[in-house]
Amino acid sequence: MIFHENGIFHLKTEQYSYLLKINRWGLPEHLHFGAPVRTEDAAGFACTPGIGWGSSVLLESSDAGSCVDALPLEWSGSGRGDYRETPIELDGKATDFRYTGFEIVPGIVPMSLPQAKDGGETLILTLEQQGARLKLYYTAFETALTRRAVLENTGDSGLMLTKLMSQCVDLPGSYEMTTFDGGWIAEMGKHTVLVTASRIVNESTTGASSNRHNPGFLLSEVGAGEDHGRVYGFNLVYSGNHYASAQRSLQGLTRVMQGISADHFAIELTPGGRFETPEAVLCWSDAGFNGLSRRMHSFVNGHIVPKYWRYRHRPVLYNDWEGCMFDFDHRRLMGLAKKAKSLGCELFVLDDGWFGKRNHDKAGLGDYKVNRKKLPMGLEGLSKQVRKLGMEFGLWFEPESVNMDSDLYRAHPDWVLTDDFEPVLGRHQLLLDLTKAEVRDYIVQNVSTILDKAGITYVKWDMNRHSVALGAKAHAYILGLYDVLGRIFAPRPQILLESCSSGGNRFDLGMLCFGPQIWCSDNTDPICRLDIQGGLSYLYPQSTFGAHVSAAPHAQTLRSTPLTTRGNVSFFGVLGYELDLKHLLKVEIEEIKEQTALYKRYRKLFQFGIFRRSENGWQVSDGQTTIAGVFHKQLPAAPGYEQLRVPGLTANRPYKLRSRAQGLRIGQFGALVKHVAPVKLNPNGFVLRTADRLAMLPDGEQTVTVSGAALEAGIMLQPLFRGTGYDKNQRTQLDFGSNLYIIEAEE
Ligand code: GLA
Repeated sequence: MIFHENGIFHLKTEQYSYLLKINRWGLPEHLHFGAPVRTEDAAGFACTPGIGWGSSVLLESSDAGSCVDALPLEWSGSGRGDYRETPIELDGKATDFRYTGFEIVPGIVPMSLPQAKDGGETLILTLEQQGARLKLYYTAFETALTRRAVLENTGDSGLMLTKLMSQCVDLPGSYEMTTFDGGWIAEMGKHTVLVTASRIVNESTTGASSNRHNPGFLLSEVGAGEDHGRVYGFNLVYSGNHYASAQRSLQGLTRVMQGISADHFAIELTPGGRFETPEAVLCWSDAGFNGLSRRMHSFVNGHIVPKYWRYRHRPVLYNDWEGCMFDFDHRRLMGLAKKAKSLGCELFVLDDGWFGKRNHDKAGLGDYKVNRKKLPMGLEGLSKQVRKLGMEFGLWFEPESVNMDSDLYRAHPDWVLTDDFEPVLGRHQLLLDLTKAEVRDYIVQNVSTILDKAGITYVKWDMNRHSVALGAKAHAYILGLYDVLGRIFAPRPQILLESCSSGGNRFDLGMLCFGPQIWCSDNTDPICRLDIQGGLSYLYPQSTFGAHVSAAPHAQTLRSTPLTTRGNVSFFGVLGYELDLKHLLKVEIEEIKEQTALYKRYRKLFQFGIFRRSENGWQVSDGQTTIAGVFHKQLPAAPGYEQLRVPGLTANRPYKLRSRAQGLRIGQFGALVKHVAPVKLNPNGFVLRTADRLAMLPDGEQTVTVSGAALEAGIMLQPLFRGTGYDKNQRTQLDFGSNLYIIEAEE
C-alpha cells in the first residue's frame, strides 16, 4: 500500500516501511526505510534543521535551515549547496529540481526496459526545473521496492544528459558495504569495507553487468551477521554498464545511489525527448544477511523471472561442452544422451560447435547453417532421436557475436560493433552491433527458425567477450539485446532460457527477466563454487543458478574433489552434469544415479526452498523438511567436534535427521588400505584398482530424532577422521569432503 498525508508518502507492506516527505523547499526528503511503522511516525524521523550547519550554503538565504548539504534526500542537484555526489548531470550545468506533483497508480507502470512485474502500487513524484521534468517512480512489492527515474526535455532546445541515476537516498547510520567482484572463473568474490568519508564505487564499464563487479551489493550495520542485524540489499534490473556508490557525510548520512554508469555517457534529448533509467531494487531486513537474502530471493522468484517459470521446476540437464568441446558427431552425442538418460538426466543440451566451420573458437560464430559433417541428420534428426529417448532437447547459441572467419562477417563486415580503431578481438571474436535493426532482425529470424524446427525446449544464450561500446552506445546495445530477447522468447514462454556470458559475466536481474536461470561460472570446481554460488546467494535465489557436476581433476583448477561433494554443491542450484560419461566407473555411475534420484525427490526444496547460509554450509527448508549441506575445504589433523544448527523449525516437534548415504573411494587410501581392509593388499595392485571401481566404503552414517529446539541449539555431527582408524559412523573425509543431512518432521 502507498499512503499519502500532508506531503508525506508511505510505502508500506508487512515487511517494511519506506517513508519520505516533500520538505518546505519542495525537495523529497528521506525519512525512514526499515521496520514497518505508522504514517504518523514520520514526525519522529524528520531531521530538517531549524537553524543551519556551519559553512553551509543556503538554498534560501532567509531560511537558515535550508542547508541541503546536511539533509537526508531522495534526490539531489548540484551547484545549489549540496556538495555530495549528485544523481543527475546535465552537461556540467547546475540542476535544481523541485516538487510539482504526485500520482499513485495501481500496479507497475510499464517501461521500455525489463522490469519487475506484479507490484502493488506505484508512486510517481514529479520534480521540475526550467526546461526539464523529472519523474521518480517507486513501486512497492511485498519484500522489496523498486525505484527509477525518467527525465523529459520540456524546453525548446536540446538537453545533454551525462548522468542519470535510478535512485539516490541518504540513509542515516554507519554501514559496511559488501560488493561481489572477480573475473572469469572467479566470479562473485565477497568484499566488505566500512563506508566512511571517501566514496566507494561499484561500477562496470565492460558493456555488460560484468564478472568484475556484480550490480548487486549490500549495506549492513557494523556487527550484523548471517542471522542478526540490519542489512540493506540493492540491485539493478539491468545488464549493461552500471554504477553504485556509497559515502558517509559528516552528519552521519550514508548517500547511496545506483544506475547506469556515467562513464563516457552522454545522450542528447531533443525537445519532448525522454530518457528512462533501469529499475533499482531496494530491500531491507533486520534478520541479518540471511533475512535479507530471503526477501531478495522471494522478490526475484516472484517478480523478476518470466511468469511461466515462476516456481516451475527445472529439469536435470546434461550438457556436452566440458565432455566434448568441439569434438563430436551424431553418434557420439547419441551415446552420451543414452548414458545421460540412464543416469537420470531429463534434458540433453548440445553446446557450442554445431554450426558453420565451428571446429574451434576461431571460426563460425554468426552462421546458423548446421555442420552436416558432424550432424548428417541435422538438428532435427538429433533432436528427434534425443526426444525419443524420453529427454528434452536444448541448444547453445551465441547470437551476439561473430568470428571474422564466418560467412556472416564476409557478407556484412559493417554489422560489427566498432570504434574508430582497428578491431580488438576477445576470444577471437567481435560483437555484432545490436543497435542496428537489420542485425537484430537477422538474429531473431535465424534463432527463431531453428527453435521452431528442431523441437527445442531449452536455450543456452551465451556471450563471450567484453564490448568496445562506451557510454550511451553501450546502453543502446543493451536495449537492442532486450529487443532481440523479447522478440524471440516472449512468443515462446515455455522455452527454458539459461543465459551465460563466459559463465557469470552477465549475472543480473535484467537477463533474469527473460530467462529464469544463468550459468554461474565456467568454473565448476565445487570448492570454488562454494564461494561463487555462496556469493550469488546473497542476492539471487538458488533457482537461478545453473550448477553442474563436472570431471575431476577439474579443468580450470586441476583440483580433485570427491563426486559426492561435486553433487552436494550442485544440489543447491539447478542440477546438471557436464563431463564425458563414456569412461565413468561403476561406482561413479551408481553415485550419479543416486544423486539425480535424490535431487528429483527434493527438487522443489533445492530449487525454491528457503535458503540459508549456515556456519558450515548451506541449508534449504520449507519448515517441514530441511536439507543441510556441510562442506569442508581443508581439514586439520585431529579435527574437533562439529555441530549442525538448523534454526526456524517448530520447537517442540520431533524431526528425524539422517545423513545421505555416501561412500568413500577405497583407492584413495593407497598404502593405508591395510588399515581399512580385512586382507593385505598391494596399494598399486590389480585387486585394489578393481575394488576401487566397484565398491565404496560407507561413510558418516548418522540417524537421530530430536526436537526443533534441539536442532536450533545445534546437534553434534559424527566425529571427523582423527587419524586412528576407519569407522562407518565417523566422517572419514579428505579435504574437500562434504555431507548432506535430510531433516524431516515426524508425525
Ligand atoms: C563459454 C561458456 C561455456 C561454453 C563455451 C562454448 O565459455 O561459458 O559454458 O558454452 O562458451 O564455447
